[in-house]
Amino acid sequence: MSLFKEVLESGETIFKNEDSLDPEWVPKLLPHRETQQFRVVNCIKPLMQGRNGKNVLIYGSPGIGKTAAVKWILRDLEENSDDVSPIYINCWQKNTAHKITCEICNQINYSFTQNKNTEELFEVIKNVLNKKSAVFVLDEVDKLEDTDFIYSLINEIYKKSIILITNFKEWYVEVEDRIKSRLLPENIEFKAYTKPETRNILKTRMEHAFFPTVWDEDAIELISEKSYEVQDIRAGLQLLRDAGLIAENHSSKKVILEYAKEAVSKIELNKSPENLDQNERLVLKVVKENPDERIGDLFKKYQEIGGEGTYKSFQRKIERLEKGKFIKTKKLIGGKEGSTTIVQYKKLTEFE
Ligand SMILES: Nc1ncnc2c1ncn2[C@@H]1O[C@H](COP(=O)(O)OP(=O)(O)O)[C@@H](O)[C@H]1O
Ligand SMILES: [Mg+2]
Repeated sequence: MSLFKEVLESGETIFKNEDSLDPEWVPKLLPHRETQQFRVVNCIKPLMQGRNGKNVLIYGSPGIGKTAAVKWILRDLEENSDDVSPIYINCWQKNTAHKITCEICNQINYSFTQNKNTEELFEVIKNVLNKKSAVFVLDEVDKLEDTDFIYSLINEIYKKSIILITNFKEWYVEVEDRIKSRLLPENIEFKAYTKPETRNILKTRMEHAFFPTVWDEDAIELISEKSYEVQDIRAGLQLLRDAGLIAENHSSKKVILEYAKEAVSKIELNKSPENLDQNERLVLKVVKENPDERIGDLFKKYQEIGGEGTYKSFQRKIERLEKGKFIKTKKLIGGKEGSTTIVQYKKLTEFE
């Protein structure tokens, strides 16, 4: 075998379909989520028979297929029913009632939204959707500024299923009772994938994204392992892409273990918030409650609420949380109280 056969010519690529590594890309079939998808579908099904649907609360840590599972259902619904309108809102991008009503108008093809206020837009939505029925998905619902909008949906749209998705199941505990008592959602937990499931998902995606025989077995194994450790498929997809690009930079037709290792060393893998220990959670809590505070003052507050360990170990926790992208720090040099570090909380789903 010639060595040169392994070398990429200029303009050649090992990617068959690089787009399929985007986190937004939804695979046609979602393996290992069939049970949860089936439960969601059962809540929506009554709508297809002209009855009212059930509401759903989906929760689980980031990067484990919540959005993908539900988007797949909406697409399937759209292909199979003219009577149920699928509405998908990401509340991180659309976090106010006004932005959401504009987005819903957009999705129901109503374009005269200029100069109309939220109430007027909601009237339009009611008129259209109450002729049929609707499934509303409010993804990342914990980012919604005001839950009144959910209340309006519950009361004013007659036949619907409202599906709320969140990374933090604690969010629902704080929701007002008047909403909870009307919503009564079916709770569906998404648990992290097991090791074989993680490997299978990444392998399938790899086969989609790359030409055959590109990947060495031990390279894909390493990436599956790392993705499983952080329990986030998104991280695995990023590693697949990065390792592929590193291989191309070496003009190599193969992704070997060395390139996978290089990809792993280059990204900070996010730890899921569920995996933080008790003291790390306390640090996160004081940082969240005291924005832009000096590290020394934060330490005092951390001790007041029962945080353990020395100042040094507190500093190390801050460093680790910053590496895991939970918080950001910035150094203040000089000033009347001398140099110090200022700590800021970062939204947990804010990936860079
Ligand atoms: N079972 C699965 N099969 C294939 N891809 C998956 C699966 N679960 C997650 N993914 C992929 O992982 C990425 C992150 O999933 P996503 O649904 O966005 O996570 P979440 O909404 O839980 O944060 C997406 O690109 C998604 O397509
Ligand atoms: Mg999501």
